[in-house]
Parts: sequence; C-alpha cells; structure tokens
Amino acid sequence: MSVPRTSDDPSVADRVPVDAATGQHPQAGRTRRSFIRGVAVAGASTAAAVALDAAGVADLVGDSAVAAGAPTPFSEFTAIAPSSADRFEVPVGFRADVLISWGDEFVDGEGATLRYGFNNDFLAFLRLDGKPDEGLLFVNHEYPAPFFQHGHVDAATKTSAQIAIEQESVGNSVLHVRRVDGLWEVVSPSPYNRRITGTTPACEVTGPLRGAAEAELADGTKVRVGQSAARPNEIDGSVANCSGGITPWGTVLSCEENFQDYGPSTGFAYGWGGTYSLTTNANYGWVVEHDPYDPSSTPRKHTALGRFRHENTAFRHVAGKPFVLYMGDDKAGEGVYKFVSDREFKPGQRANNLKILEAGTLYVAKWAPEGRRRFAADGDTTPITPESGTGEWVAVQESELVDTAALLRKRIGSAEYDLHFATNRPEDVEVDADGTVYVAFTNNSTVKDQHGSVRKLVEAGNDPTATTFTWQDYAEGGPTGRSGAGEEGFSSCDNLVFDSANNLWVVTDISSSSLKGSISAKPWYEYHGNNAVFMIPRSGPNAGVAFRFANMPIDAEGTGPYFDADERTLFINVQHPGEVTPDTGDAVYGDPTTYTSWWPEGSKSDGFNPSLPRPSTVAITRIPVEEPPGQQPTPGRPVIPPIAEEPGGPVVLPPPAQQQPGPSGRTRVDVPERVSNATFRSKGVQVRFRVREASRIDASVQVRIPRIGRRKSRLLTVGRVRKTVKAGDGSVRIRPGRVARAALLGARGRTLRARVVLEVRPPNAKSPRVRRVDAFRIR
Ligand code: FEO
Ligand code: CA
Ligand code: CA
Repeated sequence: MSVPRTSDDPSVADRVPVDAATGQHPQAGRTRRSFIRGVAVAGASTAAAVALDAAGVADLVGDSAVAAGAPTPFSEFTAIAPSSADRFEVPVGFRADVLISWGDEFVDGEGATLRYGFNNDFLAFLRLDGKPDEGLLFVNHEYPAPFFQHGHVDAATKTSAQIAIEQESVGNSVLHVRRVDGLWEVVSPSPYNRRITGTTPACEVTGPLRGAAEAELADGTKVRVGQSAARPNEIDGSVANCSGGITPWGTVLSCEENFQDYGPSTGFAYGWGGTYSLTTNANYGWVVEHDPYDPSSTPRKHTALGRFRHENTAFRHVAGKPFVLYMGDDKAGEGVYKFVSDREFKPGQRANNLKILEAGTLYVAKWAPEGRRRFAADGDTTPITPESGTGEWVAVQESELVDTAALLRKRIGSAEYDLHFATNRPEDVEVDADGTVYVAFTNNSTVKDQHGSVRKLVEAGNDPTATTFTWQDYAEGGPTGRSGAGEEGFSSCDNLVFDSANNLWVVTDISSSSLKGSISAKPWYEYHGNNAVFMIPRSGPNAGVAFRFANMPIDAEGTGPYFDADERTLFINVQHPGEVTPDTGDAVYGDPTTYTSWWPEGSKSDGFNPSLPRPSTVAITRIPVEEPPGQQPTPGRPVIPPIAEEPGGPVVLPPPAQQQPGPSGRTRVDVPERVSNATFRSKGVQVRFRVREASRIDASVQVRIPRIGRRKSRLLTVGRVRKTVKAGDGSVRIRPGRVARAALLGARGRTLRARVVLEVRPPNAKSPRVRRVDAFRIR
C-alpha cells in the first residue's frame, strides 16, 4: 500500500521535535521554564466547584492557577479532590472526550474493517507533515480480559475461538486522527490505519539472537528465538505491549512486558500455548520497532535490547555521541537498563538510523549504597535506606540477552543483585531536556514500599555514554498531609511525561483490588481514591508538589499520557475499567449490573446506564477550544459520562448483553454542521445515517446549554428517535421537546455545541453494538 513517505527525511524534526544538536527529549524540547505560582491557592474539588458554580461564585476560583511567562493550556488548573466515583473527571475549564473505545471499528486504506483493541496502554501522538490538525496515534493494547471478551476465565479449558478473540484484541493500533472544531476524531478510512495483533504480522528478528535456533535460559531450558526452523528470523505478532517510546527517526518502540502470561494455562495466564510457551520459544519480551507512517512495514524485534519485562524506552541523543536508550524492567526487585548503540543517530540517514537498535552494548544500573527504597512498615513514607547515591553501568553479556534479568542474577548472585541492582519496579523512564533521567519506581511490596517514588539519575559529566552516574530520589508517593483539595499526594507512579512549561506529569497505578472500596482495599491507599493524573511543577513555590488533574473511573488506570504537537490536547488511555469484576465472586457474564464499572457509557456510582466497561482513549482539552468570537467561555465538562439529565427517572437495566462488540460494518451518522436556533426549535434537525444490516436504532441529539446566570452549564438530551430501519442509508428528523425548546430559547444569540448520537442494535442483539457520534452547532 502506498502512503506518503514521511519517516526519517530531513523534515523529521517537524514531526518528532527532537533537537538533533542537543538531544532534547521530544516532550521537553521546547523549554520554556515557566514560573508556576499559587496553583492550589484556591483549589476546589470538582464537586465543590460545581457547588460553587451553582451558587454563582465560581469566578472566585478563576485565578487559582497562574503561570508567568509562557503558560501552556495545561499548566494552570484548579486541582481536583480524590474520587472513588465511576467517572473520568477533569478540572473545571477542561473537557474530556472519548476518542475511541475497545471494539470500535475503523477502516484501513484497503477497505478492511479493523477493531480497536483491549487495554490500551502506551500512546504516542505523531505529526503529519504540514498538518497542524492531523496526526497519528500509536497505541499499545497490553493484555486481554477473558471475562469481558467471552466470559470464559479458565485458561486450561478455553476454546481456540476464545483464544482467537483474545489474540485479535492485543498488539497495537495506528490511528489517523484529525481535529475538527477543536475536537479530535478518528479518520476512517485512512491508509495509515492499522492493527498489529497477537498473531500478525510476522515480525523480523534483529540483533545478536537473530536466527538463534537454541538459546539457554537461566534455568537451563533451551529455547528458540524465532517462529520455526523454516522461519528462523520471524516471530508472529506481538503481545504484552505495555509502554514504549519514540525515536528521532520517526519510528515507535513498543515494549513487551508481561510476556510470561501468554503460554501457560495456570496462574495469571491466558493459556495460548504454542510458540507463546516459555519452555520452547523466547518470542516475546522484546522491544519492537514500528514505522507508523508505513502500514506495510515489518515490525522488528530487537534482541540487542535484551529480553525482560520491558516497560518502556526513553532515548537521549547528543550530536557526536552514540545513540542511547534507557529502559525499565517492570518487576519487583528488577533493574534499570541503558543501551548504548554502536551507531550515532544521523538526521536524514534512514538506512543508518534503522540499524541503530540492532547492535550495541546493553548495561544494567548498579546502585550504591543500595538500589531499593526499603521501609519499616507498609504505608510508611520515610525510607530506612538512603535517598541518594552513586552508581555504575555494568555491561550485559550477549549470552544473557535472552533471559536478561535472571541470567544477570545468576552471574552476580542473589544477595549482591538484591542489594545493588534490584529496584522498586521501574515503570516509566523519561529524559529531561537537560539530560537528567527520571525513573518512576511504582512500588515494591517485598520491601514495604507501597507508594513508590520518582528518582533522578545524572550521568557522569552529563555524558550519555558515561559508565558512572549519581542519583537522588526526587518525588515520593504517599499522603502529603497537605489540606488543599488535590494536594493529598500521589501513589504508585507509572507513566511520566514533561510538558513544555517543564512540569512533570505523573499517572498512578495502584492495583485495582487495593483501591478504596475494592475487594481487598488497603488502608494506606484510602486517602488516594481512584487512580489519577497529577502535575508536579518543577520550579516556583509549588515545585515538587503533586496537584491532582484527573480522576479515573472505577478499577481503571490512566496510561500513556501524551500531549499533541501544539500541546492543546492531552491524550490519555483509560485501561482496565471494571477490572476487578471477575474476582468479586458475584459477577455474571453478560449482566452489566453485576460489573464493578459501567464506564464510559454509564456510571456505576451514579446508578446510570449499566453497560459493559470498555478501555478507551480520551482527549482532554481546555475549553473553549475554538470558540467563535464573542462566545462566552463555558464552565467545563468535568465528567464522563454526563450525569443523567433527569434525576429520579428510572434507570433502565438492559438485559444480558452480547459482550464482544460485533462487526456491523461502516455504520455512520451525519448531521449538518450548523442549524439556526429558530429552525432547530421549530423543525429539529435532519440526521442521515448508514447501517449495514436491518437494525433497531436509537438516535438522540444532545446540546450543551451554556451557563446562564446561576444555572450551570449542562448537557441536555433534547430529542430522541428510536425505530427499526433497513440496511443502507436512511434519515430521521429529531425534534426538541418542550423543556428543551425553552432552554434553547433562553440561549438565543449564543453558539451551542451539539451532537447527534446514533446507537445501533442488530436485530438479534439485545444491546447496542455500535455507537457513532457527529457534532454540530446551533447558532
Ligand atoms: Fe504494564 Fe509496567 O505496566
Ligand atoms: Ca505501565
Ligand atoms: Ca503499571
């Protein structure tokens, strides 16, 4: 398939804004050190802010966050309080929209229908040349959820069809996205759109273990790196894709983390067997390089980077120096790695750059006086071990690449390894503009570290290829004791990202069952509520304080935070909402009322719309996004889903649902871009749609009624049509009801954001399978 060739040409810096001379990190490359002050001076929780708004005094908190110099759209906000609600919450002044959810369909350049995978994790926004409002999202789909996907949780007795469902749902997605009226949507069909799954395509093996018919694991097991004797340099598909990273030559690195879960059928495993088996093959657990700009490209598994529970990659490029990649091994008591390539990154020299990760030296960090942060008791926030020290990089031998951590432990000896190499589960690693490396140590219950920390590492002489370094713990998890809403502190840091104002953004990953209100809630996480997103200013009076920016729904973890090219959008994945469901003991497959989360279509805590929880990608933007001149700013859209508009109305519990979002083709909905207020009040709006088979449709129009006086802004469902339709094109007219007409009359002269939502239920299905949305304005 032919698409514009965009990788690794001289204009690469336009898409991946790395400074080839300084090696600045792409997210931190535009260093504008802003002075952040008073972020939380008048902090208010979402609930409190809404209450203030309703009382007409919301403006009092309007200047709570001020950045001097050059603030970004995200560097000022009013921190929000912890929450245990089944909602995605952002501060007043921001809106959050679901871009795409598990099971949603999109179409590639050849007309094939693809389905968005499960448990989205890593996310990268990649520019398309000369198109400020378009880009590609590269997304990892880390692991399946048998209960939600087909209901059969016993790995030992799964059918091949059930395994196939799981295999299709993992891997990666490349999504072509476009910003229209300030909001992002998936471009479909598009030649960029692609899915990599657990079985396809055949990936190429590179590096020292290419074609290794026999490699020896730490326990002596002999395994093959490669699909078969006939296909020694290929491996089918990719699994366990946790986080990742980008390269300055326009490719994406996806990290295979918990690869041990796919072959076996006991324990926390999926029972796929075959070449996923740990005793016959070493096919997963690698870093995989993808070219998202070329949908026909072959992903490459780089054995030079070692095989361990790869969390992510973060590069550093300094002109005249070999290319360097930092990586974490996300397992309790494992280490931090650095790969120093034999080659230097040379902008524009594609043939050279694509070989950078094929040959070099892998090092593991040796920490002194000790790598782990140990604590006297669970929940403590002051460690009994030093919080700074020195270190050296110890080279990994080629024979250790296949089973890196275990073979290092074997060579070094467990006592020495635990003292100087083990850490508290490195999750994300990021490189700051000045070359400092930040590592998120999420937690490590084996040393009673329940809250984790962020550690800084500085190479000797600030030379990326140095063999020694110094380190210092930078930010620690755990309750802060501060009283401001949203300042309670983070716990169990996972992914990190810098913004261009040099703030550090942190997402948290407290295990779902340990969260407040869950089945094995831990007292030390009580203060935290659900997992969340925090911003830590790195200068000014609030330097080092974590301010809560977003709350995840029940059981979910926010993953892969990534700003778009002009930093007007923060994309984030919501992974595993409702994850605890199969462990509650009373969950019934097909009955959403028994699930622990109903997000994003419903909210368990609000008793609203019981529905299948679906991992989703969310776009957060400051509002108004692109309001026309004269448009009043609206106070915000702090929750997904919107709360039911008619409190007290009956909550309709759907019958047991078909779980797997089914194939229903290129269903779409279309509404005129603009309708006048008067026309809409009298005649409604004509909605055109296409469905692939005879269906029962539910089409509704929702309008955001802006704040008027003391009445807060609200999303109102103004009209709805339900009917049975034939396959193909059709249309319905949706008219506003009496209450809605009054509200619309009151909003004359203002531009209202509206959308039509089409839910489609095939004749033999009991609940909607496809949902399509199109936005418009009433003016
Ligand atoms: Fe998949 Fe390391 O979290
Ligand atoms: Ca992670
Ligand atoms: Ca994690």
